[in-house]
Amino acid sequence: MRKLAIIATVLALAAPAAFASGGEATASWQQWHAGNALGDRASLQRGARNFMNWCAGCHSLKYVRYQRIGTDLGIADDVMKANLVPPGAKITDYVVSAMPASLANASFGIVPPDLSLITRSKGTDYVYRFLKTFYADAAAATGTNNLALPGTAMPHVLSDLQGVQQAVFAQDGQFEKFEDGVPGQLTAAQYDAFVRDTVNFLEYAGEPAKLSRATIGIWVVLYLLLFTVIAWLLKQEYWKDVH
Ligand code: HEC
Repeated sequence: MRKLAIIATVLALAAPAAFASGGEATASWQQWHAGNALGDRASLQRGARNFMNWCAGCHSLKYVRYQRIGTDLGIADDVMKANLVPPGAKITDYVVSAMPASLANASFGIVPPDLSLITRSKGTDYVYRFLKTFYADAAAATGTNNLALPGTAMPHVLSDLQGVQQAVFAQDGQFEKFEDGVPGQLTAAQYDAFVRDTVNFLEYAGEPAKLSRATIGIWVVLYLLLFTVIAWLLKQEYWKDVH
């Protein structure tokens, strides 16, 4: 009887998974995962550099100060100032884009969104896919289009690094595959790593406290373990006389 119950449970748990993997029709890019790790400090540092160099011209992170990033990611103030804080900004400032909203509106017809919460609202996988699925599209105003956000107003700002790939669509308009187009400076693997680091940094920026929370968690568990030992010793002590 118990065996039956176990089998039934296993089957019930496996059923949705079987369904999910049965969705062969969805093109493979929709299954890409960012695979970033908040515990990887070097990756976060590279991601911060990527963001400041390639994204901050248009996007802000208005809830995070440069100094906080430096402290959390182990980047010294002078290194922050020399490399990551733009000229004219102070290290105590929030990360706001230098681009005035009016200029952004005139250039893109939309103000590039603040990216503080983008990984929380749309997920890390989404941002990873967004940055990897730009493709050449002569009909688009920017010359490129995007699978994750069709018709996006964002130009493919990383085209120097990734190059510009071609997308092949089937008769019915379904996306089939990418093909090489204009080559970029990075190999596919290097570009993946670039995007992963950038997404990692954006996930950190969405909730800077996450980093310290993990470390605090370890101390809490250690404390609880220690307390268990003390409680057990106390119990031994109290019950000694009872027996
Ligand atoms: C030249 C200006 C510019 C730069 C540089 C830029 N973006 Fe954008 N970005 C935009 C605009 C404009 C939009 C709004 C797109 C839309 O809504 O169609 C946008 C939107 C986005 C979105 C939101 C997509 C969504 O689903 O709403 C993400 C994520 C994003 N950008 C990430 C990045 C990252 C990461 C970088 C740096 C590698 C970057 N952007 C660099 C202009 C820029």
